[in-house]
Amino acid sequence: MRVILLGAPGAGKGTQAQFIMEEYGIPQISTGDMLRAAIKNGTELGKKVKAVMDSGALVSDDIIIALVKERIAENDCGNGFLFDGFPRTIPQAEALRDAGVAIDHIVEIAVEDEEIVKRMSGRRVHSESGRTYHVIFNPPKEEGKDDVTGEPLVQRADDEEETVRKRLGVYHDQTAPLVAFYQELGGDTRYSRIEGVGSVADIKQQVLDALKPVS
Ligand code: AP5
Ligand code: ZN
Repeated sequence: MRVILLGAPGAGKGTQAQFIMEEYGIPQISTGDMLRAAIKNGTELGKKVKAVMDSGALVSDDIIIALVKERIAENDCGNGFLFDGFPRTIPQAEALRDAGVAIDHIVEIAVEDEEIVKRMSGRRVHSESGRTYHVIFNPPKEEGKDDVTGEPLVQRADDEEETVRKRLGVYHDQTAPLVAFYQELGGDTRYSRIEGVGSVADIKQQVLDALKPVS
């Protein structure tokens, strides 16, 4: 199964991706996590994208498309995958289509901007795995520590309020047009829109229900 999770920064894509991975045994392909790993490892790619990411702008389509093409050619993608944070512009979606990569489901998680600004200040992440928590809404078992490894959680460099507002602007300008692009796609691709406000467990149920085969 090939799935795209579509939604604004902070809508809960990464949080819900964990549940879809567990349920369907498909890998999560988060371009944001891949880029953050490149920065952490000091690679050439990381050096190129760090300033752009910290500012809240988008990395160029060329870089992202090359990164994704390489990733989906890997062995673990044979049974499908889950895109989180990709595609994010019309040219990225067109590149995917032109490469013949058919998508089974698009799941849009819709959340208002002001709710997102509130969420981001409380976000904490395990940088190695990308696992995401919230100090109040989705706390780790032990304060400040990842549930799986026990390693410390950190705040993301782009989670400052001003940068979050910039990212939301970028989302509305460059990514939101994908909603119409995919709704109009038709064919075998299903499109589901979920209101992303409510408990993490409640949203999880709605996401998994949306992905169930229609009988
Ligand atoms: P990326 O890492 O993709 O960030 P994003 O899309 O901005 O999304 P986030 O990771 O911020 O949010 P999320 O939806 O995953 O929410 P989460 O589950 O964490 O991209 C970062 C940067 O990389 C971009 O700005 C760009 O520069 C670059 N980039 C990446 N991909 C690119 C591409 N394709 N093209 C160009 N550039 C690209 O949840 C947020 C918080 O809310 C957490 O604390 C969570 O615990 C909490 N939460 C989750 N669900 C709920 C709930 N139901 N109720 C209350 N709180 C909740
Ligand atoms: Zn994310």
